[in-house]
Amino acid sequence: MMLVDGHGRVHDYLRISLTEKCNLRCNYCMPESGIVLRNKSHFMNADEVIALAKTFVNLGVKKIRITGGEPFVNKDISQILIQLSQLNVDLSITSNAVLLSDYFELLEQLNIRSLNLSIDSLNEEKFNAITRRNLFDTVIKNINEAIHRGFKVKLNVVVIKGVNDDEIVEFVRWSIREFISVRFIEFMPFDGNQWKVDKVLSQKNMLDIIAKEFKLETIQKIQDEKNLISRNYKIEGAKGSFGFISTITNSFCGTCNRIRLTADGKIKNCLFSNEELDLLSALRNGEDVTSIIQKAIQSKHAKNAGIDFENQNYKNRSMTAIGG
Ligand code: 5AD
Ligand code: SF4
Repeated sequence: MMLVDGHGRVHDYLRISLTEKCNLRCNYCMPESGIVLRNKSHFMNADEVIALAKTFVNLGVKKIRITGGEPFVNKDISQILIQLSQLNVDLSITSNAVLLSDYFELLEQLNIRSLNLSIDSLNEEKFNAITRRNLFDTVIKNINEAIHRGFKVKLNVVVIKGVNDDEIVEFVRWSIREFISVRFIEFMPFDGNQWKVDKVLSQKNMLDIIAKEFKLETIQKIQDEKNLISRNYKIEGAKGSFGFISTITNSFCGTCNRIRLTADGKIKNCLFSNEELDLLSALRNGEDVTSIIQKAIQSKHAKNAGIDFENQNYKNRSMTAIGG
Protein backbone atom coordinates (compact mmCIF):
# COMPACT_ATOMS: atom_id res chain seq x y z
CA MET A 1 0.00 0.00 0.00
CA MET A 2 1.06 3.56 -0.60
CA LEU A 3 -0.11 6.91 0.66
CA VAL A 4 -0.67 9.05 -2.42
CA ASP A 5 -2.25 12.49 -2.08
CA GLY A 6 -4.51 14.35 -4.50
CA HIS A 7 -1.46 15.86 -6.20
CA GLY A 8 0.16 12.52 -7.01
CA ARG A 9 2.78 12.74 -4.28
CA VAL A 10 3.76 9.48 -2.56
CA HIS A 11 4.12 9.93 1.20
CA ASP A 12 6.77 7.61 2.56
CA TYR A 13 8.50 9.78 5.15
CA LEU A 14 7.07 10.12 8.67
CA ARG A 15 8.30 12.54 11.30
CA ILE A 16 7.30 11.54 14.81
CA SER A 17 7.50 14.03 17.66
CA LEU A 18 8.19 12.39 21.02
CA THR A 19 7.46 15.39 23.22
CA GLU A 20 6.46 19.05 23.17
CA LYS A 21 8.98 19.78 25.91
CA CYS A 22 12.45 21.11 25.35
CA ASN A 23 15.50 21.87 27.43
CA LEU A 24 16.17 25.01 25.36
CA ARG A 25 13.88 27.97 24.66
CA CYS A 26 14.90 29.10 21.16
CA ASN A 27 13.07 32.34 20.61
CA TYR A 28 11.90 31.46 17.07
CA CYS A 29 10.40 28.21 18.31
CA MET A 30 9.15 28.62 21.90
CA PRO A 31 7.09 31.57 23.03
CA GLU A 32 8.83 33.49 25.83
CA SER A 33 6.35 32.20 28.38
CA GLY A 34 6.90 28.60 27.29
CA ILE A 35 3.95 26.48 26.20
CA VAL A 36 1.10 25.13 28.28
CA LEU A 37 2.13 21.68 29.39
CA ARG A 38 -0.61 19.11 29.56
CA ASN A 39 -1.03 15.90 31.51
CA LYS A 40 0.87 12.83 30.29
CA SER A 41 -2.33 11.09 29.24
CA HIS A 42 -2.68 13.47 26.29
CA PHE A 43 0.54 12.16 24.75
CA MET A 44 1.52 8.91 23.08
CA ASN A 45 3.29 6.44 25.33
CA ALA A 46 6.08 4.26 23.95
CA ASP A 47 3.73 1.42 22.95
CA GLU A 48 1.41 3.82 21.16
CA VAL A 49 4.29 5.40 19.25
CA ILE A 50 5.33 1.95 18.06
CA ALA A 51 1.77 0.87 17.20
CA LEU A 52 1.17 3.99 15.10
CA ALA A 53 4.61 3.76 13.48
CA LYS A 54 3.84 0.17 12.45
CA THR A 55 0.55 1.27 10.89
CA PHE A 56 2.42 3.87 8.84
CA VAL A 57 5.06 1.35 7.78
CA ASN A 58 2.27 -0.93 6.56
CA LEU A 59 1.08 2.03 4.48
CA GLY A 60 4.43 2.33 2.76
CA VAL A 61 6.46 4.61 5.03
CA LYS A 62 10.17 3.92 4.48
CA LYS A 63 11.79 6.64 6.50
CA ILE A 64 11.08 7.79 10.06
CA ARG A 65 12.61 10.82 11.72
CA ILE A 66 12.29 11.30 15.48
CA THR A 67 11.78 14.91 16.53
CA GLY A 68 10.33 17.00 19.37
CA GLY A 69 10.34 19.45 21.18
CA GLU A 70 13.60 17.85 22.09
CA PRO A 71 13.22 14.09 21.61
CA PHE A 72 15.90 13.11 24.15
CA VAL A 73 13.82 14.79 26.87
CA ASN A 74 11.42 11.84 26.54
CA LYS A 75 12.59 9.26 29.10
CA ASP A 76 11.39 6.36 26.94
CA ILE A 77 13.43 7.32 23.91
CA SER A 78 15.89 4.40 24.19
CA GLN A 79 13.11 1.85 24.25
CA ILE A 80 11.33 3.60 21.37
CA LEU A 81 14.47 3.72 19.22
CA ILE A 82 15.25 0.07 19.93
CA GLN A 83 11.79 -0.97 18.77
CA LEU A 84 11.69 1.34 15.76
CA SER A 85 15.08 0.07 14.64
CA GLN A 86 13.50 -3.37 14.25
CA LEU A 87 11.07 -2.04 11.64
CA ASN A 88 12.25 -1.95 8.08
CA VAL A 89 12.83 1.82 7.92
CA ASP A 90 15.57 4.36 7.60
CA LEU A 91 15.67 5.91 11.07
CA SER A 92 17.07 9.35 11.91
CA ILE A 93 16.84 11.97 14.65
CA THR A 94 16.57 15.74 14.92
CA SER A 95 17.94 17.10 18.19
CA ASN A 96 19.41 20.18 19.81
CA ALA A 97 22.40 18.05 20.92
CA VAL A 98 22.16 19.00 24.60
CA LEU A 99 21.70 15.41 25.83
CA LEU A 100 23.39 13.67 22.92
CA SER A 101 26.50 12.51 24.79
CA ASP A 102 24.39 10.07 26.81
CA TYR A 103 23.19 8.33 23.65
CA PHE A 104 26.15 7.96 21.26
CA GLU A 105 26.71 4.29 22.12
CA LEU A 106 23.04 3.40 21.76
CA LEU A 107 22.79 5.19 18.40
CA GLU A 108 25.88 3.38 17.17
CA GLN A 109 24.53 0.02 18.34
CA LEU A 110 21.24 0.62 16.55
CA ASN A 111 23.06 1.86 13.45
CA ILE A 112 21.30 5.23 13.55
CA ARG A 113 23.92 7.19 11.65
CA SER A 114 22.13 10.35 10.59
CA LEU A 115 21.67 13.26 13.00
CA ASN A 116 20.17 16.68 12.31
CA LEU A 117 21.46 18.99 15.01
CA SER A 118 20.58 22.64 15.58
CA ILE A 119 23.03 25.44 16.13
CA ASP A 120 22.17 29.01 15.22
CA SER A 121 25.30 30.80 16.38
CA LEU A 122 28.97 30.00 16.92
CA ASN A 123 29.21 32.84 19.38
CA GLU A 124 28.56 31.70 22.94
CA GLU A 125 26.75 34.81 24.11
CA LYS A 126 24.56 34.99 21.06
CA PHE A 127 23.76 31.27 21.15
CA ASN A 128 22.77 31.51 24.79
CA ALA A 129 20.63 34.58 24.09
CA ILE A 130 18.78 32.87 21.22
CA THR A 131 18.19 29.68 23.24
CA ARG A 132 17.58 31.52 26.55
CA ARG A 133 19.79 28.95 28.32
CA ASN A 134 23.53 28.66 28.96
CA LEU A 135 24.36 25.43 27.18
CA PHE A 136 26.60 26.56 24.32
CA ASP A 137 29.64 24.61 25.55
CA THR A 138 27.68 21.38 25.89
CA VAL A 139 26.12 21.74 22.46
CA ILE A 140 29.40 22.51 20.66
CA LYS A 141 31.18 19.67 22.45
CA ASN A 142 28.46 17.17 21.54
CA ILE A 143 28.24 18.31 17.91
CA ASN A 144 32.01 17.95 17.54
CA GLU A 145 31.89 14.52 19.13
CA ALA A 146 29.11 13.44 16.74
CA ILE A 147 31.21 14.60 13.78
CA HIS A 148 34.34 12.87 15.02
CA ARG A 149 32.50 9.63 15.75
CA GLY A 150 31.55 9.63 12.08
CA PHE A 151 27.83 10.34 12.30
CA LYS A 152 26.32 11.92 9.19
CA VAL A 153 25.70 15.34 10.73
CA LYS A 154 23.46 18.00 9.30
CA LEU A 155 23.53 21.31 11.12
CA ASN A 156 20.35 23.36 11.08
CA VAL A 157 20.87 27.11 11.26
CA VAL A 158 17.75 29.28 11.39
CA VAL A 159 18.84 32.58 9.86
CA ILE A 160 17.17 35.74 11.14
CA LYS A 161 18.03 39.14 9.75
CA GLY A 162 20.05 41.21 12.19
CA VAL A 163 20.52 38.24 14.52
CA ASN A 164 22.92 35.77 12.95
CA ASP A 165 23.26 36.74 9.28
CA ASP A 166 26.78 37.94 10.09
CA GLU A 167 27.79 34.33 10.82
CA ILE A 168 26.80 32.74 7.52
CA VAL A 169 30.33 32.89 6.15
CA GLU A 170 31.72 31.33 9.30
CA PHE A 171 29.29 28.42 9.04
CA VAL A 172 30.33 27.92 5.40
CA ARG A 173 33.98 27.86 6.52
CA TRP A 174 33.10 25.12 9.00
CA SER A 175 31.69 23.08 6.09
CA ILE A 176 35.07 23.37 4.37
CA ARG A 177 36.96 21.93 7.34
CA GLU A 178 34.56 19.17 8.39
CA PHE A 179 32.40 16.51 6.77
CA ILE A 180 29.13 18.22 7.73
CA SER A 181 26.21 19.60 5.86
CA VAL A 182 25.15 23.04 7.07
CA ARG A 183 21.55 23.96 6.25
CA PHE A 184 20.54 27.58 6.43
CA ILE A 185 16.81 27.72 7.14
CA GLU A 186 14.65 30.69 6.22
CA PHE A 187 12.83 31.97 9.30
CA MET A 188 9.27 30.58 9.32
CA PRO A 189 6.14 31.85 11.10
CA PHE A 190 4.75 29.87 14.04
CA ASP A 191 2.63 30.73 17.01
CA GLY A 192 4.31 33.14 19.41
CA ASN A 193 7.54 33.65 17.45
CA GLN A 194 7.00 37.24 16.28
CA TRP A 195 7.66 36.44 12.67
CA LYS A 196 7.72 39.29 10.20
CA VAL A 197 8.54 39.05 6.54
CA ASP A 198 11.30 41.62 6.94
CA LYS A 199 13.13 39.37 9.42
CA VAL A 200 13.47 36.71 6.72
CA LEU A 201 16.78 36.43 4.95
CA SER A 202 16.07 34.68 1.67
CA GLN A 203 18.15 31.99 0.03
CA LYS A 204 19.14 34.60 -2.54
CA ASN A 205 20.28 37.08 0.13
CA MET A 206 22.33 34.34 1.77
CA LEU A 207 23.96 33.21 -1.47
CA ASP A 208 24.86 36.84 -2.21
CA ILE A 209 26.61 37.08 1.16
CA ILE A 210 28.51 33.86 0.46
CA ALA A 211 29.43 34.96 -3.06
CA LYS A 212 31.01 38.12 -1.66
CA GLU A 213 33.39 36.04 0.41
CA PHE A 214 34.21 33.11 -1.85
CA LYS A 215 35.11 33.28 -5.54
CA LEU A 216 32.03 32.50 -7.60
CA GLU A 217 33.75 29.73 -9.56
CA THR A 218 34.53 27.88 -6.31
CA ILE A 219 30.85 27.68 -5.26
CA GLN A 220 29.57 24.44 -6.75
CA LYS A 221 25.93 23.35 -6.95
CA ILE A 222 25.29 19.80 -5.76
CA GLN A 223 22.66 17.83 -7.66
CA ASP A 224 19.24 17.98 -5.94
CA GLU A 225 17.86 14.85 -4.29
CA LYS A 226 14.53 13.35 -5.30
CA ASN A 227 12.54 14.68 -2.33
CA LEU A 228 14.66 17.72 -1.83
CA ILE A 229 14.32 19.85 1.28
CA SER A 230 17.55 21.75 1.01
CA ARG A 231 19.24 23.00 -2.12
CA ASN A 232 22.89 22.21 -1.63
CA TYR A 233 26.26 23.66 -2.60
CA LYS A 234 29.87 23.16 -1.69
CA ILE A 235 33.02 25.16 -1.85
CA GLU A 236 35.49 23.54 -4.21
CA GLY A 237 37.67 21.10 -2.28
CA ALA A 238 35.58 21.30 0.89
CA LYS A 239 34.97 18.22 3.06
CA GLY A 240 31.36 19.18 3.68
CA SER A 241 28.57 21.15 2.06
CA PHE A 242 25.99 23.82 2.78
CA GLY A 243 22.45 24.37 1.61
CA PHE A 244 19.26 26.33 1.99
CA ILE A 245 15.85 25.34 3.29
CA SER A 246 13.90 28.08 1.63
CA THR A 247 10.33 27.43 2.70
CA ILE A 248 9.38 31.08 2.40
CA THR A 249 10.88 32.24 -0.90
CA ASN A 250 11.31 29.01 -2.86
CA SER A 251 9.09 26.27 -1.49
CA PHE A 252 9.84 22.61 -2.11
CA CYS A 253 6.22 21.49 -1.73
CA GLY A 254 6.13 19.99 -5.22
CA THR A 255 8.12 16.95 -4.15
CA CYS A 256 6.80 16.72 -0.60
CA ASN A 257 6.70 13.18 0.80
CA ARG A 258 6.36 14.14 4.45
CA ILE A 259 3.77 13.34 7.11
CA ARG A 260 3.94 14.48 10.70
CA LEU A 261 2.73 12.78 13.86
CA THR A 262 2.61 15.16 16.82
CA ALA A 263 3.49 14.05 20.36
CA ASP A 264 -0.22 14.11 21.21
CA GLY A 265 -0.95 11.70 18.40
CA LYS A 266 -2.40 13.99 15.75
CA ILE A 267 -1.55 13.54 12.09
CA LYS A 268 -0.54 16.80 10.46
CA ASN A 269 -0.31 16.63 6.69
CA CYS A 270 1.81 19.76 6.45
CA LEU A 271 3.96 21.81 8.81
CA PHE A 272 1.60 24.72 8.22
CA SER A 273 -1.67 22.82 8.35
CA ASN A 274 -4.25 23.31 11.06
CA GLU A 275 -6.38 20.44 9.92
CA GLU A 276 -5.15 17.77 12.29
CA LEU A 277 -6.79 14.40 12.73
CA ASP A 278 -6.59 12.53 16.02
CA LEU A 279 -4.93 9.15 15.55
CA LEU A 280 -4.20 8.58 19.23
CA SER A 281 -7.86 8.69 20.31
CA ALA A 282 -8.77 6.45 17.41
CA LEU A 283 -6.08 3.97 18.43
CA ARG A 284 -7.27 4.02 22.05
CA ASN A 285 -10.90 3.53 20.97
CA GLY A 286 -10.03 0.64 18.70
CA GLU A 287 -11.10 2.55 15.59
CA ASP A 288 -9.63 2.18 12.13
CA VAL A 289 -6.50 4.34 12.14
CA THR A 290 -5.59 3.55 8.53
CA SER A 291 -8.65 5.21 7.05
CA ILE A 292 -8.00 8.37 9.10
CA ILE A 293 -4.43 8.51 7.84
CA GLN A 294 -5.65 8.11 4.26
CA LYS A 295 -8.19 10.88 4.76
CA ALA A 296 -5.50 13.22 6.10
CA ILE A 297 -3.26 12.57 3.11
CA GLN A 298 -6.15 13.04 0.69
CA SER A 299 -6.91 16.51 2.03
CA LYS A 300 -3.35 17.75 1.62
CA HIS A 301 -2.96 21.08 -0.18
CA ALA A 302 -0.53 21.57 -3.05
CA LYS A 303 1.57 24.13 -1.21
CA ASN A 304 2.14 25.32 2.39
CA ALA A 305 -1.26 23.98 3.52
CA GLY A 306 -2.86 26.59 1.29
CA ILE A 307 -2.04 29.47 3.62
CA ASP A 308 -0.64 32.94 3.00
CA PHE A 309 2.14 33.67 5.52
CA GLU A 310 1.42 37.38 5.56
CA ASN A 311 -2.25 36.94 6.39
CA GLN A 312 -2.67 38.15 9.98
CA ASN A 313 -5.29 35.49 10.71
CA TYR A 314 -2.93 32.58 10.10
CA LYS A 315 -2.81 30.38 13.24
CA ASN A 316 -0.59 27.41 13.93
CA ARG A 317 0.93 25.64 16.89
CA SER A 318 4.30 26.83 18.10
CA MET A 319 7.10 24.85 16.46
CA THR A 320 7.98 23.00 19.65
CA ALA A 321 4.41 21.63 19.76
CA ILE A 322 4.48 20.59 16.10
CA GLY A 323 7.73 18.73 15.88
CA GLY A 324 10.60 20.10 13.83
N1 5AD B 1 11.83 28.87 11.38
C1 5AD B 1 12.72 28.03 10.82
N2 5AD B 1 13.15 26.90 11.40
C2 5AD B 1 12.70 26.62 12.62
N3 5AD B 1 12.96 25.59 13.46
C3 5AD B 1 12.24 25.76 14.57
N4 5AD B 1 11.48 26.88 14.47
C4 5AD B 1 11.77 27.44 13.27
C5 5AD B 1 11.34 28.62 12.60
N5 5AD B 1 10.48 29.46 13.14
C6 5AD B 1 13.95 24.53 13.18
C7 5AD B 1 14.95 24.35 14.29
C8 5AD B 1 15.34 22.93 14.21
C9 5AD B 1 14.32 22.31 13.32
C10 5AD B 1 13.70 21.15 13.95
O1 5AD B 1 13.33 23.29 13.07
O2 5AD B 1 16.09 25.10 14.12
O3 5AD B 1 16.60 22.77 13.64
FE1 SF4 C 1 14.04 23.30 21.58
FE2 SF4 C 1 14.55 22.94 19.00
FE3 SF4 C 1 12.63 24.57 19.73
FE4 SF4 C 1 15.16 25.24 20.22
S1 SF4 C 1 14.21 24.95 18.18
S2 SF4 C 1 13.42 25.40 21.66
S3 SF4 C 1 16.06 23.31 20.64
S4 SF4 C 1 12.66 22.40 20.05
